Amino acid sequence: MEMINFEDLGDSRGGLVSIEEHKNVPFEIKRVYCIYGVKKNVSRGFHSHKNLEQVAICINGSCTIVLDDGLIKRSAVLSSPKTGLYIGKNIWREMHDFTSDCVLLVLASELYDEDDYIRSYSEFLKKIENIRGVT
Ligand code: TYD
Repeated sequence: MEMINFEDLGDSRGGLVSIEEHKNVPFEIKRVYCIYGVKKNVSRGFHSHKNLEQVAICINGSCTIVLDDGLIKRSAVLSSPKTGLYIGKNIWREMHDFTSDCVLLVLASELYDEDDYIRSYSEFLKKIENIRGVT
């Protein structure tokens, strides 16, 4: 899992982190969205992206993100505004265990495009096999 640690710029007054494209986030940030108020026992995600790169930062509460590259599934608990999880292209992601106060901020390298999504796990595995086949 590629975790990004944002420098703690806090002082005696409280916390502060700064996020800058191409500095501590490895792409141009074209879109920012926020997942919040997730109902109890609800999981989200269950898709991959053909081109999109993202960084997910849990700025309040906590949640678990599972990343699957088609071979290995890894999971991380996000619970701090000081930590971002990099999610590359062609990675299946699932988000679980949202606390009711969880606010997940997501930075994205592209504008929203439904055609960039793969929402079927079998299609995702096929795509991964094709990628592996040509490299
Ligand atoms: P979706 O990406 O499926 O949510 P998640 O992966 O978190 O479960 O998005 C849910 C809906 O919101 C879907 O209809 C697409 C829409 N949406 C946008 O219009 N713009 C966006 O930036 C995002 C992330 C979603």
